[in-house]
Amino acid sequence: MAEIKCVELCKTYRQGDAIIKALDHVSLDIEQGAFICLSGPSGSGKTTLLNMIGGLDALDSGEISIDGQRVDLLEKGALADLRLHHIGFVFQSYNLIPVLSARENVEFVMQVQGVPAAERRRKSMAILEEVGLKDMEGRRPSQLSGGQQQRVAVARAIVSQPKLVLADEPTANLDSVSAKHLMELFVELNQNHRVTFLISTHDERVMRYAQRLVRMRDGKVVSDEIQISD
Ligand SMILES: Nc1ncnc2c1ncn2[C@@H]1O[C@H](COP(=O)(O)OP(=O)(O)OP(=O)(O)O)[C@@H](O)[C@H]1O
Ligand SMILES: [Mg+2]
Repeated sequence: MAEIKCVELCKTYRQGDAIIKALDHVSLDIEQGAFICLSGPSGSGKTTLLNMIGGLDALDSGEISIDGQRVDLLEKGALADLRLHHIGFVFQSYNLIPVLSARENVEFVMQVQGVPAAERRRKSMAILEEVGLKDMEGRRPSQLSGGQQQRVAVARAIVSQPKLVLADEPTANLDSVSAKHLMELFVELNQNHRVTFLISTHDERVMRYAQRLVRMRDGKVVSDEIQISD
């Protein structure tokens, strides 16, 4: 699920006297079940685009719809609902809750969703095992390495099977074995559960998995290519 249409997105930031065009008339159609990598130099607008699609920040102009629903017109409550039930975020900084254990962090979203405790526990344990953290469920973020924290963040994002996953540099702190596992997990979710993926990355190991590679520069989409996998 999840078909996304972005039309002429613009977002500027002001830094002192300078005006930065973080998104400069970006249009992008993301088909249902897509697996797209977004690449481009630092500062090209990748994170900004993910944040806009996820409704985390407001556009200056343009339109975004997810499954026909205009995200940019939703009011706060409806937007929070959409994020809670349908979108999984994996951020560049993991945004884990420091006082909660790995398992509690993964369960947190399900708790807000009202999932019963036994089901939360079962699902969080299964997903932690899948990301290779079975024995670390009781540790707090400060007791985990960067890569392990990243995997907790990924587990949290995908545990309730959102229809769209927005991942910002998900492998930035992972060794190559973990990066490979993570990408295989994403591909599995994409193929077997039709989860749509939009992944920003500098990582060639990640781009290899993309069905479609979108490159950005200076807030613009400069190329958009279907990749044939080998
Ligand atoms: N909150 C902000 N205030 C001011 N400028 C910002 C803000 N967020 C982003 N920018 C600027 O907007 C531009 C796009 O930033 P963005 O974070 O989207 O790039 P990116 O492609 O994700 O880069 P990276 O690969 O380094 O993560 C950059 O020039 C950045 O400095
Ligand atoms: Mg970024």
